[in-house]
Amino acid sequence: MKKLWGGRFEAATDRIVDEFTASIDFDKRLYRHDIEGNIAHCKMLQKVGIISASECRKITSTLKEIENEIASGKAKFTPEVEDIHMYIEGKLIEKAGETGKKLHTGRSRNDQVALDTRMYLKDEIKEIFTLLKQFISEIAAAAEKQIDVVMPGYTHMQHAQSVLLSHHLHAYTEMLLRDIGRLKQCYKSADVMPLGAGALAGSSFPLDREYVAKLLGFSSVTANSMDTVSDRDYQLEFIFFSSLLFMHLSRMCEELILWNGTEFSFVELPDEFTTGSSMMPQKKNPDVLELVRGKTGRVYGSLISVLTLLKAQPLTYNRDMQEDKEALFDTADTVKKSLLVLGKFFGKIKFNRARLEYEAGEGFMEATDLADYLVMKLVPFRQAHEVSGKIVIYCLNKKKKLRDLSMNELMSFHKGFCEDVLGILDPKSSVKRKKTSGSTSPAEVKKNIKRLYGILGKLKLS
Ligand code: ARG
Repeated sequence: MKKLWGGRFEAATDRIVDEFTASIDFDKRLYRHDIEGNIAHCKMLQKVGIISASECRKITSTLKEIENEIASGKAKFTPEVEDIHMYIEGKLIEKAGETGKKLHTGRSRNDQVALDTRMYLKDEIKEIFTLLKQFISEIAAAAEKQIDVVMPGYTHMQHAQSVLLSHHLHAYTEMLLRDIGRLKQCYKSADVMPLGAGALAGSSFPLDREYVAKLLGFSSVTANSMDTVSDRDYQLEFIFFSSLLFMHLSRMCEELILWNGTEFSFVELPDEFTTGSSMMPQKKNPDVLELVRGKTGRVYGSLISVLTLLKAQPLTYNRDMQEDKEALFDTADTVKKSLLVLGKFFGKIKFNRARLEYEAGEGFMEATDLADYLVMKLVPFRQAHEVSGKIVIYCLNKKKKLRDLSMNELMSFHKGFCEDVLGILDPKSSVKRKKTSGSTSPAEVKKNIKRLYGILGKLKLS
């Protein structure tokens, strides 16, 4: 294919340069968006009188033909064509002749590539929005199902206070809901139409930018042509959203991996979502969870890579920017794949109630309840804390649990203890006595799961 920008050159580009500068290998996936954008641009050129109706029809039908060729795998992509934009325009000229040469009027690849990536990202965000919502619903359903299971809540990886398993699961949904909020903002940022900026200065043709925006379903048009071709914030926001999402997924996966370990045995993972060892016959490994945890690295890597790529680039477009795409595509692919598998996985996890409840009875987690009890009997909290701490040492020495202590033993530490104290020394009553909003009390957790379903039911991307 002849170089579409070849006029100014006397010698052909070195093959190494073709290979070095080409992006077609990875930006070919933008072909549908490129063609849709081309058709909108073409219709607009007709509307403002730059091309005729028959020229517009010819260009449009040829573009669709090219789209079909690419879709059916017939297209041959070679490095000399550089990128998908050049490929499609070159093919158009090959097929539609002189008429095809009119399409690029008032446009540059600089605003074209911004358009394509914005369109691509909007579509990816729509899919991710659905997957993320689905995943949150799966976690909510698991929380609802295990509503009466208690387990140890941890701080510093030590038994801290009893909580409901549902409360723990609901914590994940809160993280992911915040991610959804950020994703909505990503959509807004991507939803601004860049075409008309040209290479950097705008166009001397009376292009109807609002019309193109309307045709392509954009909410508004960009305000400064220089900013338009140099802006990649919308990509970075998305990769940042993805990084935070993966930080959350990674924490959740880490917990499930631990809970699946022999020492915890809090969960049993489904066969369909685990893998075996090539050497050790007894193994059932949580590879899916480990891979999600591991993929967090590449998503963070993309964030640093695109941030660094943009740092210190003078306005406006520089070829450096071509390096944004692999990071962006890889991030969107990684998010989609991971959410898809986790969404199908989560509902199949079996929670081992007996183990969770047994562990909830270990580790003196009622020590805080004991202190709070004395506070209700008008003992100042600091003093109550000290008394309860002393009782814990006593139990450790005597190899007893708090609930094994007799009234006499308790009263030897403080006269304020009465018979009713015996009713508070178990995990279930501990969670039930929580009174604050957002706490682990069963009533509060039920309310929050209901609230979550309400939010999910009303959630819209834009
Ligand atoms: N392949 C290029 C990219 O991805 C398209 C824009 C090229 N623009 C240019 N002036 N060379 O950024």
